[in-house]
Amino acid sequence: MSRILTGDRPTGKLHLGHYVGTLKNRIKLQNEYETFIIVADLHTLTTKPEKEHIQKIDENIRQLMLDYLACGLDSKKVIFYRQSQVPEVTYLYLLFSMLVTIERAKRIPTLKDVIRDQKIKAASVGLLSYPILQSADILMVRANLVPVGRDQESHIELTREIAQRFNTMYGETLPIPEALIGNESITLVGTDGKSKMSKSLNNCIYLSDSSEEVKKKIMSMYTDPKRIHGNEPGTVEGNPVFIYHDIFNSNKVEVADLKSRYQKGAVGDVEVKEKLAAAINSFLDPIRKKRAEFEKDPELIKRILAEGTAKARAEAQKTLELAKKAMGLTKLTE
Ligand code: TRP
Repeated sequence: MSRILTGDRPTGKLHLGHYVGTLKNRIKLQNEYETFIIVADLHTLTTKPEKEHIQKIDENIRQLMLDYLACGLDSKKVIFYRQSQVPEVTYLYLLFSMLVTIERAKRIPTLKDVIRDQKIKAASVGLLSYPILQSADILMVRANLVPVGRDQESHIELTREIAQRFNTMYGETLPIPEALIGNESITLVGTDGKSKMSKSLNNCIYLSDSSEEVKKKIMSMYTDPKRIHGNEPGTVEGNPVFIYHDIFNSNKVEVADLKSRYQKGAVGDVEVKEKLAAAINSFLDPIRKKRAEFEKDPELIKRILAEGTAKARAEAQKTLELAKKAMGLTKLTE
């Protein structure tokens, strides 16, 4: 069976953008592939190495794992593991870092985005080389496929280059992984109409938001800025409330009716938004229920991660042995 590796940095709760961007796809893929999901805590250090941030990692991991499970990722199918508990990955990262030129590392487009978005004044070597660490995550489990959002495509390209280079220099050792960008995987607009729902932009609806929070956020959502009154014709295309309706409202007749009335100037924003809040809440209700169930067992996340991490570590040890052998690093000592 083909093997998948994917995952996230533990930076807190997941939102609807994560759901449509990656989670939905992963929930489907877990039935078709052997799936590893990395909780990439070492990656958070690349931009936030301060102790005050590290102190939040445990709680962030808990929230992330609860969201995963509540959405339907199943710990019986998926191997969830914590990156920092697999020391072999850092050894592989060191070996791989020798195969990437400084110029190549600097050409990774996400680097500039991170520096800009997170207002980083002076990037560390760790930040520059974090795509190599990600390559080690992927190659460490010898994954065949990496389902990621478009923004991560360049990292998978680098991973492929590293694997190819390794194989050419030391002999066939590593499978060449491929990025899997889901067909329906989309970047969800934020509630403020900005291009991307993102924690740092403060425009998110979280999977764990209460129904009141959802309602409040939806009622203050950005719509068609040119339309002041409900009796003026409005634009549906690209309008965030209708983008959300299309994705989350399963009552297609209602959505079509709202759209046609909106275009004619025969519906107010309040009605459009109230119906949207109801639709999103009925989408989130089962997720909230499952989350509450999982929350009852305080040891659950610990157990799942301990089990998954042991399995991932065994794979990492195997890959590291293969790599060292191929390179001839073990001759004298084996
Ligand atoms: N780089 C990803 C992010 O910042 C998280 C991540 C780390 C990852 N290792 C990975 C994703 C391996 C896919 C595969 O969101």
